[in-house]
Amino acid sequence: MNVQTVLITGGASGIGLAMVRKFAAEGNHVFFIDTNHLEGTKLQFEAHEKGHQVKFLEGSIASFAEVEQLIHQIPEKIHVLINNAGISHIGKVETTSEDDFDRLFQVNVKGMFNCIKAALPKLKENGGGSILNMCSVAATIGIPDRFAYSMTKGAALSMTLSVARDYVQDGIRCNCLSPGRVHTPFVDGFLAKNYPGQEKEMYDKLAATQPIGRMGTPEEIAELAYFISSEAGSFITGANFNIDGGFMGLKM
Ligand SMILES: NC(=O)c1ccc[n+]([C@@H]2O[C@H](COP(=O)([O-])OP(=O)(O)OC[C@H]3O[C@@H](n4cnc5c(N)ncnc54)[C@H](O)[C@@H]3O)[C@@H](O)[C@H]2O)c1
Repeated sequence: MNVQTVLITGGASGIGLAMVRKFAAEGNHVFFIDTNHLEGTKLQFEAHEKGHQVKFLEGSIASFAEVEQLIHQIPEKIHVLINNAGISHIGKVETTSEDDFDRLFQVNVKGMFNCIKAALPKLKENGGGSILNMCSVAATIGIPDRFAYSMTKGAALSMTLSVARDYVQDGIRCNCLSPGRVHTPFVDGFLAKNYPGQEKEMYDKLAATQPIGRMGTPEEIAELAYFISSEAGSFITGANFNIDGGFMGLKM
């Protein structure tokens, strides 16, 4: 694709990191927002070593004022926004506190809204572009013990459809990706916290829930994100893509 300015949230780890590497390797100008100072700085350094144009914008998507100030530092129009940052929580209604509920919504839902709202002027200035939201299979199927997380992903799906409808006339496409399990620090952290000493056994169990017999890789998700966000995806809007090793389509 032509050189584009791409903004990715949660770029310092996992799927977001693979996206930063992919878009930068294709010659684009990549800006990424993340709260992780150490990993964000490392990634920016690694990119510069390779001669790639990557800039780390350190901050949280949870605050609109902060996001607006970070996006203000991007001197160019924005072609592509990828709302990838997200946090997880394990629990049913009874084991979800009010604080857990608020924290999950603050990042996964309001954070996504904050970034779309703050980036829209720069997408419009460009005469259109692409917004891609990170959803999950949890948005459309009941996954045990993921009450708050699943609700936030349901909201991300509705937000995608609503934004796609409202901005189609402005040339802005909006889609979302719904991965099954992808092997990232998100998964490793979950296993270490919830199944200490049984990480390997639980990893294999989680991997086997995908009919394809393994977890996805961050690079596989980044490839699809790249396709949808580039010229190749120009006829795609208002769509939710399952990328899940057959988890949704091949239910037994
Ligand atoms: N890994 C999976 O199996 C899986 C499956 C389906 C969907 N997802 C979704 O994909 C996205 C990325 O997941 P991942 O596995 O790569 O996660 P990860 O934990 O490896 O990375 C998430 C990144 O987001 C950043 N982040 C968190 N809160 C932030 C905030 N308030 N402001 C800015 N940055 C923040 C973190 O610092 C981290 O770098 C998430 O939205 C997640 O819900 C992941």
